[in-house]
Amino acid sequence: MLDDSNKPFFKWFVGGKTNIVYNCLDRHAETSRRNKLALMWEGEKGEFRSFSYFALRRETCRFANVLRSLGVQKGDRVTLYMGRIPELVIGMLACARIGAIHSVVYGGFTVEALHERLEDSHSKVLIVADGAYQRGKIVPLKSIADEALQRAASVESVLVVKRTGEPVNMESGRDMWYHELMVLPIAGNACHIEQMDAEDPLFILYTSGTTGKPKAILHTHGGFMVGTYTTLKYVFDIHDEDRYWCAADPGWITGHSYIVYGPLLNGATSFMYEGAPTYPYPNRWWQMVEKYGINILYTAPTAIRGLMRYGENWPNRHDLSSLRLLGSVGEPINPEAWKWYHRVIGKGRCPIMDTWWQTETGMFMITPMPCVALKPGSGTRPFPGVVMDILNEEGKPVAANEEGFLVIKEPWPAMIRTIYKDPERYVQQYWTKYPGVYMTGDSARRDEDGYYWVIGRVDDVLKVSGYRLGTAEIESALVSHPAVAEAAAIGLPHDVKGNAIHTYVILKTGIEKSDKLVDELRAHVAHEMGPIAKPDSIVFVESLPKTRSGKIMRRVLKARALGQEPKDLSTLEE
Ligand code: WT7
Repeated sequence: MLDDSNKPFFKWFVGGKTNIVYNCLDRHAETSRRNKLALMWEGEKGEFRSFSYFALRRETCRFANVLRSLGVQKGDRVTLYMGRIPELVIGMLACARIGAIHSVVYGGFTVEALHERLEDSHSKVLIVADGAYQRGKIVPLKSIADEALQRAASVESVLVVKRTGEPVNMESGRDMWYHELMVLPIAGNACHIEQMDAEDPLFILYTSGTTGKPKAILHTHGGFMVGTYTTLKYVFDIHDEDRYWCAADPGWITGHSYIVYGPLLNGATSFMYEGAPTYPYPNRWWQMVEKYGINILYTAPTAIRGLMRYGENWPNRHDLSSLRLLGSVGEPINPEAWKWYHRVIGKGRCPIMDTWWQTETGMFMITPMPCVALKPGSGTRPFPGVVMDILNEEGKPVAANEEGFLVIKEPWPAMIRTIYKDPERYVQQYWTKYPGVYMTGDSARRDEDGYYWVIGRVDDVLKVSGYRLGTAEIESALVSHPAVAEAAAIGLPHDVKGNAIHTYVILKTGIEKSDKLVDELRAHVAHEMGPIAKPDSIVFVESLPKTRSGKIMRRVLKARALGQEPKDLSTLEE
């Protein structure tokens, strides 16, 4: 099953033939689940759409045929850039069905982030929505994509999904409407499924690391399938009659593993909501839990803290008695938010599955199961078969309650296989500090009961509202502005977001600092990277603390901002 002859390039289910989409769709569409709902969707404006397993397979097949007719073949990359709409799910499945590698770019990213991902993946096709609804406003995805496409050369065809109906630019010979292609005879209801090797790539998904360039994490058909199916089944105890809602975005790993693939593999009914949790009022989520009878709700601490601010009256207006299990992911959940979630949303009846994992792990790694005794703020212990540890600088396991580096000691099925086109970086990033051991980049401690308490990132990665952002990416977005010579970004504690982005900027000579320039720089980062990366503060400085080799010492900036004495300044340049 496991081939470890070329560590750390592990292989799982070697020689196995499969296609994850067969087990997501065909297997159910051909059985008694044929008419069962696979996906229920509510738009921000209140529209409702649903797809049975039969219908989801049909739409996937039609779209897969369209992609094939455009020349997309096994191994080609296709980028998807949309809001939370069913076509995103259909697009991902259609790619996988024909063996193409999907690369989903989160709809909250903007021009440069999209350009970089299109270029690095060398995508042939881009699937984009005309726009996305967010808090009653329209995010003009197609025009953002047009700007990114001016900077990226590989894209031959752009398929545009009509969501908002706002006018968009359609470039002839390149841009085509999805709804027009989907009714052509080439888009038949049957579509030959590409037989894949268990180790063939399923998708790449970019995530932030410690350098300015995001990493394309590669996952495969076989291992990812086994990992997501099993963990979702046992952790969320998902049953045929359940209605399950993972409120993440398909553009992140949580959506790939636990909105799209995991639930479909389990033959489950998933619910997806397009918009903001507080639109038009802070009861929107609870209204939908009641309306659709949601049994399992999986979300992030930042969302819980955001909703907590509006008080208990909003959820208390709704019947939440359908809820049976709750989940949390993305960052450590503070006990206050845990207790509120447990008491106000779960009415003290629903266990909270605090799942620790990463884009790279593909599946839950440290997580309770419904039968495990919980402690607020701890993900309890590793999932069966997952071998983890906490090591000190020398690579020795730390004693109980001591902090150390969180590592994974044995390979697992849904693990990252490599960084696409950059195998050296894969080895360097994860497997070098302790040879043969996977470095998560997190610090943690373990208590006397063996329960894990994840503390947070130990590298230059920030968790902002659960999103993973590299300080180097924020810095390079700032430096791409003509007024900026150098920039440094750090995270400081924030009540709702977990971390707020604070930046320090050295202006080019002759440029005057002003409040107007602060606004302009913040808008520039939002335009280049996305609103999620917009700095909360910008401070103009004359110099930045650096090591003798010229690296910015962010921890010194952070200590100062928190009014602490920075530790160990031996490498600081005079
Ligand atoms: C990082 C991975 C996995 C899906 C979403 C995030 C942090 C994630 C938890 C948790 C404490 C957590 C870690 C990890 N993290 N879940 N339950 N408790 N921290 O995926 O964007 O790849 O981020 O998120 O720091 O390394 P990601």
